[in-house]
Amino acid sequence: MNMITNEAVSLDRDGAVLIATVDNPPVNALSHAVRAGLVSALDQFEADAEAKALVILCAGRTFIAGADIREFGQPLKEPRLGALIDRLDRCEKPVVAAMHGTALGGGLEIALACSYRLASQDARMGLPEVKLGLLPGSGGIVRLPRLIGVPDALTMIAEGGQIGAAAARDKGLVDEVVSGDLRSGAVAFTQGIAEKGEVRRTSDLPVPAFDEGLLATRRAELAKRYRGLKAPQIAVDLIEMMTITPFAEAVEKEYATCRELIASPQSKALRHLFAAERAALKIDGVPADTQPRKVSKVAVIGPGVMGRGIAMCFMDAALPVVLLGRSEESLGKAEAAIRKLYGGSIKRGSMTEAQLEERMKLLETVTDYERLADVDLVVEAVTENLSVKKDVFARLSGVLKPDAIIATNTSFLDIEALASSAAQPQNVAGMHFFNPANMMKLLENVRASRTDANVLATITALGKKIGKVPVMVGRSEGFVANRMLSKRSREAQFLLEDGATPQQVDKVLSGFGFPIGPFALADLAGMDVMAAARQARIAGMTPREQACNIVDKLAAAGRLGQKTGAGYYLYGEDRKPQHDPAVGELLAAHRTERGFGSREITDEEILERCLLAMVNEAAKLLDEGAAARASDIDVIWTSGFGWPTHMGGPMFWADQMGIARVKEALDKYSRIVGEEYFKPAALIERLASEGRGFHN
Ligand code: COA
Repeated sequence: MNMITNEAVSLDRDGAVLIATVDNPPVNALSHAVRAGLVSALDQFEADAEAKALVILCAGRTFIAGADIREFGQPLKEPRLGALIDRLDRCEKPVVAAMHGTALGGGLEIALACSYRLASQDARMGLPEVKLGLLPGSGGIVRLPRLIGVPDALTMIAEGGQIGAAAARDKGLVDEVVSGDLRSGAVAFTQGIAEKGEVRRTSDLPVPAFDEGLLATRRAELAKRYRGLKAPQIAVDLIEMMTITPFAEAVEKEYATCRELIASPQSKALRHLFAAERAALKIDGVPADTQPRKVSKVAVIGPGVMGRGIAMCFMDAALPVVLLGRSEESLGKAEAAIRKLYGGSIKRGSMTEAQLEERMKLLETVTDYERLADVDLVVEAVTENLSVKKDVFARLSGVLKPDAIIATNTSFLDIEALASSAAQPQNVAGMHFFNPANMMKLLENVRASRTDANVLATITALGKKIGKVPVMVGRSEGFVANRMLSKRSREAQFLLEDGATPQQVDKVLSGFGFPIGPFALADLAGMDVMAAARQARIAGMTPREQACNIVDKLAAAGRLGQKTGAGYYLYGEDRKPQHDPAVGELLAAHRTERGFGSREITDEEILERCLLAMVNEAAKLLDEGAAARASDIDVIWTSGFGWPTHMGGPMFWADQMGIARVKEALDKYSRIVGEEYFKPAALIERLASEGRGFHN
């Protein structure tokens, strides 16, 4: 007999065992119907004298993956999750949670309040709320340490990672790992315990003793690792609280903190990014049911720094790679460099020698284009020069399968011109990796006007497969990330001309949350590299930009950055940037030469000029269609260029500031710095006049 509770939860019986099945695709999130359905299942279970035990399990791909994020910010609808969990805790007959897929957040909190927890072999468990700027609010914090101890619970709660079924069993989170069919295994297990009817309450367990210094040590580590993020620190506070507070009172405090966090700006920003990352996978003009092409072997052309890193991305995802170079010598060097990079992973303990050898077997090095006849996709990563790349495209066209995809890794060249030089322009797109390609998460995929929809679907799926955050962008010089960065770099340089110091600018931007300031970053990249990049683009620059040649002067003085021990800063053994009076003198001389008086620049001006120059450029990219959505730009900057995630990305930040204020500030800097640099983009004018933001 099927005892329906509602559209999201059904109840059925197997002898003395009732089985409540949650079915709320796609991830069985705890929306109102699920909470209400489970409460109703508990009502029926408690009223049913024949029923000795209850199993909670889920249909579909996963156990409950947490609260329904779409309900955040809406009025709370009863029953709350806390009320459901309290009912589970007080239930006088045993309830068994049977988990598969990812039991996350509120899903795991439900399991923690059950008498027994079972997991299928592939199940993973975690409390990922911290990644959304939140913390568990329905018993995760007060119960998990009672089961697995304070140190492990603190890691799971403050960092949001997942653990697998076997580790969960070893730690005491799970009672049994079920192999084979979860439902039948769970029913068999529950029939075994139903007879005894033994109820176990996690809330009755004492908090296991732990090392006194643990909280202070972890607090410091978390502050370093998650700079600027509040939730990991509050996690430590709450763990400390739960160790000294009676259970019921601790439950209340945990919930109150969670409510406060839901309303916090950091959580709003992180939730925005969660949705933004998923929205970025939906590509205009590519229907959701578009089948990606099969990619089981790839080629990378060009064994330079980028090519090697890109090859590693595919090897790391177990895809065979053919690396094509012009000579055996360059290929040998590339292979050795790849081995060396993996060697670093071995030293850090994240890879074994055997894994290294397995990975290297995926790499084939060739000099002959004929050897690319069976690859499904090629990433071209040769010198950044249109005629060199066109030549590669022509040669590829002669040997590739008709449906093989050619993806260029160009950073600045015109994708349309490249596509036109291929025999099958519909197979051409861009896959713009960032250096170091094997480490950087961001992947700007580039569409050209004739690229096939299923090529776009393929490079998106492939980007995900290799662990990147793929965002589709359109034709534009420098695409999205670099074009916006170039405006920030320009303002940083202009600020030096106007009287700011490199230290001041770096301090303001790292204070905002960037991992490194622009001048310390330039010292890392190398002044010779920066100067060459400047020369390559000098023809398109304004007269002030052309004359703003501080980089050239530093390079000419041999101040190439960290590699020569001096750039914008001085570097000693410890590689920490130190102030150098010689740079002050060089800047003073530059200002005199250029006729700029030095004035006091406020931190506010530095921040606004650097960030608003980016936002203004982004608005132009949106109007040009090179970026499809404001939220895509937020994903690009948070996953690629160090924009702090808790600030949501540049467009989210601008929306928080308010577009009217953004426009006012742009008008102000138009007057101070010049119209050609700060005239508000047409989109900003429109949004300001309509009282709207980038995201609505
Ligand atoms: N509430 C509402 N919707 C959710 C959700 C949640 N907690 N978690 C995922 N979804 C939605 C996604 O938005 C996506 O919807 P879309 O297809 O319309 O874009 C869909 O479920 C699939 O999610 P996706 O992340 O693309 O699938 P995945 O298989 O890669 O990962 C999870 C599945 C559950 C691991 C992942 O979605 C996740 O980590 N979710 C958040 C879990 C969480 O933080 N829970 C605590 C909330 S306080």
